[in-house]
Amino acid sequence: MSTFVLMRILESAPQRYDLGIRLLTLGRVQRAYDRLASYIDPGQRVLDIGCGTGPLALRAARRGASVRAIDVNPQMLEIAARHGRDTGLSDRIELVEMSVAELDAERSESYDVVMSGLCLSELGDDELAYTLKQVTRILRPGGLLLVADEVRPQSLVTRMLHSLVRIPLAILTYVISQRTTRPIAGLHDKLTQAGLSIMSADTSRLGSFIELMAKKPDKATA
Ligand SMILES: C[S@@+](CC[C@H](N)C(=O)[O-])C[C@H]1O[C@@H](n2cnc3c(N)ncnc32)[C@H](O)[C@@H]1O
Repeated sequence: MSTFVLMRILESAPQRYDLGIRLLTLGRVQRAYDRLASYIDPGQRVLDIGCGTGPLALRAARRGASVRAIDVNPQMLEIAARHGRDTGLSDRIELVEMSVAELDAERSESYDVVMSGLCLSELGDDELAYTLKQVTRILRPGGLLLVADEVRPQSLVTRMLHSLVRIPLAILTYVISQRTTRPIAGLHDKLTQAGLSIMSADTSRLGSFIELMAKKPDKATA
């Protein structure tokens, strides 16, 4: 799914983001979000990192969770707020204009679930390492991290194939938006280094999209 790089262009036109991402990914992202959200229980406290127009936050709220959803892009947040109103879920979603760089302000062990869709691949290496460290700190013991994102394929052949399609798209995206994304490399190791255990991970056929659940160890084993 090399087309993920084009989402950077869509982010500069938030009103077209939802339709654009659905068309670009043929609904695969939405289906992944449905599956991830199924791990959320009513009454849980959930943080959505890089919520955008709110697809994950809305799913979590619909399952009865209380959601704090953060994003740096105020236009994306405006659309998320509108979706919240339209679906009657606003009272369960707190939208906050905030960067992952400010996660240190969140209370330790205050979330049952942290989730993130297509945002971690927009972070630089240091920012990603910092974010995962903060996620481990703010999750309660036994809490879950749910991620759907673009990753670097593991096998050399698929990596080359992926790059072949992706590089021209990345150049096009950069020319139009002056921004780009990078598929996450070595996500498993990064999560383990941050102190999380991987519970399940499903990758797409080309290995470029991952749907993953990781867990903070329970207190007894922490
Ligand atoms: C590709 S969009 C995905 C949005 C949404 N999660 C979804 O699945 O549709 C990535 C989002 O991450 C946000 N983002 C990027 N860098 C961020 C950061 N440092 N802190 C918080 N949000 C960030 C962007 O503003 C954007 O809304």
